[in-house]
Amino acid sequence: MRLGIVGAGIMGAKVAATAERLPGVRVTAVADPVAERAAALTDRSGGIPFAGFQELLDSGAVDAVYLGLPHDGHADACVEAAASGVHVLIDKPLCNTVAEADRIIAARDAAGIVLMVGFSYRFRAEWLAARGLVADGVIGEPLSVTDVIVEATPDTPPWYWDTGRGGGILQLQSHHCFDRLPWLVGMPLAELTCRTTGLAGEAESAAAITGTFAPGAVAGISLSFGRTHVAGPRSLTVVQGSAGQLRIEQGGALAVSSNAGERAESYADDDWLHRQLSAFVAACTGPEPAVPAAEDGRLAVVCAAAAAESARTGQPVRLS
Ligand SMILES: NC(=O)c1ccc[n+]([C@@H]2O[C@H](COP(=O)([O-])OP(=O)(O)OC[C@H]3O[C@@H](n4cnc5c(N)ncnc54)[C@H](O)[C@@H]3O)[C@@H](O)[C@H]2O)c1
Repeated sequence: MRLGIVGAGIMGAKVAATAERLPGVRVTAVADPVAERAAALTDRSGGIPFAGFQELLDSGAVDAVYLGLPHDGHADACVEAAASGVHVLIDKPLCNTVAEADRIIAARDAAGIVLMVGFSYRFRAEWLAARGLVADGVIGEPLSVTDVIVEATPDTPPWYWDTGRGGGILQLQSHHCFDRLPWLVGMPLAELTCRTTGLAGEAESAAAITGTFAPGAVAGISLSFGRTHVAGPRSLTVVQGSAGQLRIEQGGALAVSSNAGERAESYADDDWLHRQLSAFVAACTGPEPAVPAAEDGRLAVVCAAAAAESARTGQPVRLS
């Protein structure tokens, strides 16, 4: 499979390096308006450098693309790749608005291409194991979920904090939670409230979100990205069930406490990006479905839009 990398930034470089280890996959083109970023990847993996995704698509040099772009470029890049008959792995979030999501889904269906969303937690070994434990009833009926993602560094691409470009903590991080929590506990979210804050003149960099799942379980989501100092990323998720508690922590730690005792597992060296790319290649080259699908990405967009509306109005928002 001839793979193009569109956006040779932080994630594009990781995907290009991981693709080298996939049998039957070659990185044949890389697009980035910052020429040295594209060249750094083509020097390493081979392939032709381009200044933008349209030139890359017009070249006919790829069967599929990974899109690792600023969020304001997601919808157009997906639609134009579909129009060129090229399969798409789009990094989260699918896009910025529900209307964009509908446009992407229509373009995918019209072209008959594969489109998968890179919700990375679905490919992490500790999350896959945790989901299996919840489904097997090891902690009983989930009653509450506490979900935290915090990190800090002043050294981020400027668009991360530019509202006009789809920046801000809700677009950068909440989509992970709005996808991983319903997927983990097997229940859709039904209502959200949200408050946000941040530095003056920038998109919001912290959010406190409460959620209610359709059967009545509750969620508390806390997101924060420090902008003035450095502190490593932390992700912590705790599910309290009717018969036990499950914890997933940064670095691949999974623990369960129940009346049957304690158990802990570690997946410290997990290769989740390899698993994610392999799933995309399988969907492009065989009968495997593309999961997470664009519809999963759209659900997270609906939730993030509801959270933004709640932050604006101060009111809870029902999800239909
Ligand atoms: N799944 C995860 O764990 C994870 C982690 C970080 C980022 N992401 C997501 O990955 C995506 C990319 O984020 P990033 O941190 O790599 O950003 P980045 O700013 O490092 O990279 C984006 C790159 O796109 C390039 N670009 C801009 N316009 C372009 C165009 N028209 N054609 C080609 N290239 C263009 C930029 O020059 C830049 O090099 C975002 O959607 C982000 O939310 C996901």
